[in-house]
Amino acid sequence: MIMFKESAIHKFRKLPTPFYYYDVSILEKTLQCVSEEAGKYGYQIHYAVKANANDKILKIIRDYGFGVDCVSGNEIAKVMNIGFDPECTVFAGVGKSDWEINFALDHNIFCFNCESKPELEVINEFAGKKGKIAPIALRINPNINPATHHYITTGIEENKFGISQWELDNILSLLKNLENVKLIGLHFHIGSQIIDLKSFKSLCMSVNQIQERFIKYQIIVDHINVGGGLGINYEDPDKNTIPDFAEYFGLFNNLLELRPKQKVHFELGRSIIAQCGSLITRVLYIKNGVKTKFAIVDAGMTELLRPALYQAYHRIENLTSYGKSDRYDVVGPICESSDCFGKYIELPETKRNDLLAIRSVGAYGEIMAFRYNLRDLVKSYYSDEL
Ligand code: LLP
Repeated sequence: MIMFKESAIHKFRKLPTPFYYYDVSILEKTLQCVSEEAGKYGYQIHYAVKANANDKILKIIRDYGFGVDCVSGNEIAKVMNIGFDPECTVFAGVGKSDWEINFALDHNIFCFNCESKPELEVINEFAGKKGKIAPIALRINPNINPATHHYITTGIEENKFGISQWELDNILSLLKNLENVKLIGLHFHIGSQIIDLKSFKSLCMSVNQIQERFIKYQIIVDHINVGGGLGINYEDPDKNTIPDFAEYFGLFNNLLELRPKQKVHFELGRSIIAQCGSLITRVLYIKNGVKTKFAIVDAGMTELLRPALYQAYHRIENLTSYGKSDRYDVVGPICESSDCFGKYIELPETKRNDLLAIRSVGAYGEIMAFRYNLRDLVKSYYSDEL
């Protein structure tokens, strides 16, 4: 799958840079594949809104019948506005504020993924005041260390996320006294950008063990939510545009020991949306450094934070030059040395006004933009509207 047609590049030249560009057909093919593969086992997908909350993208995802995973009151407000079904909306987060809990209760969402004892008590109190019973899942920290950047692991004990297993007995006896919450599920999420499926295998083993523990208490929940985290290929997005969803869902189908009528839920973000997005930026200057040349571009860490924050790799392509290659440090205009998209990157000989594409930025790209140096937030364009 080749992402950029000549006709699109021709149109890019006329647009003010930098901007985000989304290839809608890649998104639709990905959604089609997720639907088919998850559909084989009756799995329910909740798109993780935190990855990208563009209206147009959310509407496309809504039309494929997906639910949503939200982590703030504003995300819930956004998806309600777009027309997602509250019955397919889950709400996670270690720090749900009072208004967010009340807002979610007012919208009768499907489930609160609860992360601590005091949070359960507060939800119970607020639900009681409204004369409601809040459906909850316990987010359990399975203490699994997936092979990914340490900033994006969530399921090891030192992380702030989830309820530790040593606290479970305590929580279960507390739950007996909370009259306004109903335990409907167990929730897990071990981290993000997980490529080695062995981590998900460990997750399944852990879910099975925890279920055994609950059965000793004579508790069988209706819903098992295994979170998200499936990684994508940042090195070669054209050859690996759609992640191997068949293998991923197949693994859960083979390994999870479910009780009759239990439904499995997933919260996928990156694997759905990353590959359809690119950040298009213009080269401002080529400057000679001591050991390298700098290609100084008009996008910075304010538009795409991942390289500065996680040393994340994103493939960079020159869309408008085809000459013999050279090496460049591709850097932005922000007053921070970490404002660098890649060091010693091989590109065709690059000059002022060339357009570069920074690839695989559909997830955690535009949504993490910020206004340091009083920069403007950039626009987005879509393949079917250009
Ligand atoms: N569910 C929960 C509870 C989560 O915390 C997350 C992501 C997801 C689902 C979706 O995970 P995904 O399928 O997208 O891996 N900004 C970082 C990623 C942070 C992920 C936060 N949680 C990055 O740019 O790599």
